[in-house]
Amino acid sequence: METPNAEIVSEKARIRRIVEEARAAGWTVGLVPTMGYFHEGHLDLMRLARAECDLVVVTLFVNPTQFGEGEDLAAYPRDLERDSRMASSVGVDYIFHPGAREMYQEGFATHVEVEGLSRIMCGASREGHFRGVTTVVAKLFNIVPAQRAYFGQKDAQQLVIIRKMAADLDFAIEIVAVATRREDDGLAMSSRNTYLAPDERAQAVALNQALERAQELVDGGERGADRVAAAMEEVINAYPLVNIEYIAICDNILLRPLEELSGGVLVALAARVGKARLIDNRVLEIE
Ligand code: PAJ
Repeated sequence: METPNAEIVSEKARIRRIVEEARAAGWTVGLVPTMGYFHEGHLDLMRLARAECDLVVVTLFVNPTQFGEGEDLAAYPRDLERDSRMASSVGVDYIFHPGAREMYQEGFATHVEVEGLSRIMCGASREGHFRGVTTVVAKLFNIVPAQRAYFGQKDAQQLVIIRKMAADLDFAIEIVAVATRREDDGLAMSSRNTYLAPDERAQAVALNQALERAQELVDGGERGADRVAAAMEEVINAYPLVNIEYIAICDNILLRPLEELSGGVLVALAARVGKARLIDNRVLEIE
């Protein structure tokens, strides 16, 4: 069945009014923040929001403040027409697509940072990245006053940090996590996978294979974090184009490193493959 086109809105005041009116009418509003160049992972977030909410607003903004110097801001893939078609096909009502000036007025000086959590793991090599993420997400929560916001488990640290920000700053919004969507060979879908040359793309399966190995070991009774990490490293080292940046085995609430695996354990890793920096993770429930 044909769904109507998602309407593109570029002014903050307009999208806020639309959402406020919907809420005044008793509707549930779902927010899906994105940087565009959609794939099925993004669409899963939109589908869940569509299933759970009366009005669905996707935001599409390649947020400059979360890209460091020398990172891929200029190269980041963009295709508004295709994105708009894809969002429409899953029933999104509005796409909020502001210009950089609309989001960051001249002299913008206020930032939101979740201390500690934003400096470790991905934050260690991407200075200022999570500060940029939390600042823009806080702004989006204010601009689009939804009851629910949808984020992917793919970006596990981002999800933990946004949950912490929402709790610490009393945002009245429920954070909903959505499972990671993968390609047939297990590679987690990402807009950045487009940077991979064919040989790099083939070896990028290493990340998920390392996570599978971790799962296997834990299923077999292994509880030593060091031994799990070493086995993951061994898997990845069989793929010469994949260079590990970090492997973290930590709790899934405050990202504290674990020696012994128990409870909800986040196993996360980042690796460089050619021009791309890829991340992946798995949450293991251990009794
Ligand atoms: P972006 O990378 O476009 O991702 C938008 C949302 O889609 C995030 O919540 C991300 O976790 C989710 N996502 C990405 N790949 C996924 C996959 N394979 N399966 C499931 N979900 C996936 O993350 C950002 O944008 C930005 O940092 C943002 C939060 C929008 C702030 O600028």
